[in-house]
Amino acid sequence: MRLDVFFTPLVVRPSDTSGRLVAIVDVLRASTTVATALGNGAKTVIPLEGAEEVISRSKEFARSQILLAGEQKMHPITGFDLGNSPQAFKPKVVEGKTILITTTNGTRTLLGVQGARDIVIASYVNFTAVLAMMKVAASSNTDIAIICAGEEGSFTLEDAACAGRYVRAIPKRADSVHVNDAASASVLIERKYGENIAKLFKESSHGQALQAAGFGDDLVAAAKVDSYPVVPIYQERQITKLGPERAR
Ligand code: MLT
Repeated sequence: MRLDVFFTPLVVRPSDTSGRLVAIVDVLRASTTVATALGNGAKTVIPLEGAEEVISRSKEFARSQILLAGEQKMHPITGFDLGNSPQAFKPKVVEGKTILITTTNGTRTLLGVQGARDIVIASYVNFTAVLAMMKVAASSNTDIAIICAGEEGSFTLEDAACAGRYVRAIPKRADSVHVNDAASASVLIERKYGENIAKLFKESSHGQALQAAGFGDDLVAAAKVDSYPVVPIYQERQITKLGPERAR
């Protein structure tokens, strides 16, 4: 089987995702926000291309059923209910709601995936839950692609390190798993930081930008490994959590 990492969505071809388990990683902050929202009881998260799409889609719902969320240049979009700060997606805010969200890199990366068998949203806060699904895929020889959302087409340290944590943790029987060079490199990056995710964020440019913009609490939330043990799965243009009411 193949276990490949892609450091930006720009290098992903349809053949890299077709038939595979695909994990989208946008640690800062879209993946973390989606896992937090679903972990705190949101009914579903609908990722959309931009603010206009969020507004036009919102017209299909009763206003009380939905929350409009997302960021532009890290900041909440004017008139929306929420930005992209994970800890704002509290149970009392999101419980039972459909969240329409747009973000600069994370939601667009997700919307670009073609032909996957399953698409899941991965981060530190739901690391072990998503890893369990990857392990099942690996044990049945299903190829895995981990796509880092990156930043406007560029590499980001935090997504690469989180991808490396998955690559390291997936059991590899001798000669049965073939990894690409980006997967090998992601493991080297992950090894450098290990459990010191705060240091990783401190050294990453998007981590620095979020800190400077006043979103330091988001970095703390995003570093809490397994704080939201959910598997957010993207099917039929919406993200819900795997569980008794949603099997794959
Ligand atoms: C994105 O999707 O680009 C991000 O999650 C940016 C952010 O909100 O920090």
